[in-house]
Amino acid sequence: MLEVAGLEAGYGRARVLFGVDLTVAAGSLVCVMGRNGVGKTTLLETIMGVLPVRAGRIRFRGRDITRLPTHERVRLGLGYVPQGHESFDRLSVRENLRVTREASGGRDAGVPDEVLDLFPRLRPLLNRPAGFLSGGQQQQLAIARTLVTEPAMLILDEPTEGIQPSIVTEIEDVIERLHRERGLAVLLVEQYLDFAERLADRFTVLDAGVVVREGAGRELAEPEIRRLLAV
Ligand SMILES: Nc1ncnc2c1ncn2[C@@H]1O[C@H](COP(=O)(O)OP(=O)(O)OP(=O)(O)O)[C@@H](O)[C@H]1O
Ligand SMILES: [Mg+2]
Repeated sequence: MLEVAGLEAGYGRARVLFGVDLTVAAGSLVCVMGRNGVGKTTLLETIMGVLPVRAGRIRFRGRDITRLPTHERVRLGLGYVPQGHESFDRLSVRENLRVTREASGGRDAGVPDEVLDLFPRLRPLLNRPAGFLSGGQQQQLAIARTLVTEPAMLILDEPTEGIQPSIVTEIEDVIERLHRERGLAVLLVEQYLDFAERLADRFTVLDAGVVVREGAGRELAEPEIRRLLAV
């Protein structure tokens, strides 16, 4: 479904990714792992077209999207939840969801029930400004905002980083349900090895912008992986 080949990207003169290959099959969940600063976010931003590709190519659902602007990638079905759960602080939760749905391509501006069903905590907060939500609630809103665009593949960057433990479990459950019950393809940058081990069909470990290990989810239990991730 998503095929990244020989990807190179960076910031100004700094090269960050050096020929990264990555594949996400339809309906599968792939975890990207690696220590701080190895290029995980850079990889996702390049896949989304937030950063330009310097070399290599990206295909999604049979189309070459290497040079497409971000909004066209979204329209083709890529849904991105960036690291750090930012929302429009002054808009209400409902408005946040509506604005994103409208911007993603002319659908009706209603908030689909099935999205709110996934996040029962957000329902009583619909009329609150997003800036009043806790970090965990804002992360749930960030995921909900991406879901209202009806993505075919969900791309999440450390969705439980710095979130209170009770909400971490809820977020993990939602990702699991989206993947297992709805068959959504998921590309997940994840720091929690246990969660990755439980859910990942495949994983990729990056180090200094290079893929140093790739394999089936169950291999995440191997001691060598813990060494690579220094956990
Ligand atoms: N906007 C930027 N301008 C210049 N360099 C950047 C920028 N963003 C990231 N970098 C550098 O690119 C490298 C990769 O950063 P990236 O954010 O992709 O790492 P990461 O694996 O996502 O790390 P983390 O686990 O901390 O989120 C790092 O050396 C970082 O300092
Ligand atoms: Mg990052």
